[in-house]
Amino acid sequence: MRKKIVAGNWKMNLLSEEAFNLANGVSEVLASVKDVQLIVFPPAVFASSIIEKNQGLNVGLQNFYPAEKGAFTGEISVSQVKNIGATHVLVGHSERRAIFNENESFLKEKVDAALLHGLIPVFCCGEPLEIRKVNTELSYVKQQLIDSLFHLSAEEMMKCIVAYEPVWAIGTGKTATVEQAEAMHKAIRTWIAEQYGKEVSEEISILYGGSCNASNAKELFACENVDGGLIGGAALQVDTFITIAQAF
Ligand code: PGA
Repeated sequence: MRKKIVAGNWKMNLLSEEAFNLANGVSEVLASVKDVQLIVFPPAVFASSIIEKNQGLNVGLQNFYPAEKGAFTGEISVSQVKNIGATHVLVGHSERRAIFNENESFLKEKVDAALLHGLIPVFCCGEPLEIRKVNTELSYVKQQLIDSLFHLSAEEMMKCIVAYEPVWAIGTGKTATVEQAEAMHKAIRTWIAEQYGKEVSEEISILYGGSCNASNAKELFACENVDGGLIGGAALQVDTFITIAQAF
């Protein structure tokens, strides 16, 4: 059965005290949203302390390097991510694709490395505005899945979470309409079913991301194929994040 999930991507925001307070705040309300899995993705420098101080909270890393160790100055290895007790990793976020030139074959390596080390990849996909304008978003997103995800076995695929994040909606205040979100989520589930069978497709949570907030989460989460959200800006305050988590 598909899990309901609300994940907070804090990006490169917050200083230590703010990050620890936010994590504590989210931990305190975990019990009130029992049927929804909450995950936070803090800046990497705070992740280890947050994990130590907040038992029971799922903490993921926003980024990692897909090798166990070695001469990669400044990088954080996949085994180090696992070692501190993180549970999830973001892979393919549009900011990593666009600003840090992470291409599809590198993302494929990241997905493989995460799974090999027992981390759950939250694989982000989504089209930029120019693609949406010419109505080719379905084939664009399908290709992203083919390039970096569909090489997995069914067993591996079932461990993944997919996040559909239209690039034009990220941080812009322009949320996808419920029709746009549901159309893409339904298409993603159909492609997964074609590749792996219906049973697998019904196990995978597909999250929506892109200006999802306390006011629009309810209608988005009411869509048949939307299983939750990957939240940026609105995840930086406990109350809005929790309102979103309670929006199912
Ligand atoms: P946003 O970011 O909610 O601020 O649009 C979402 C994301 O980038 O994951």
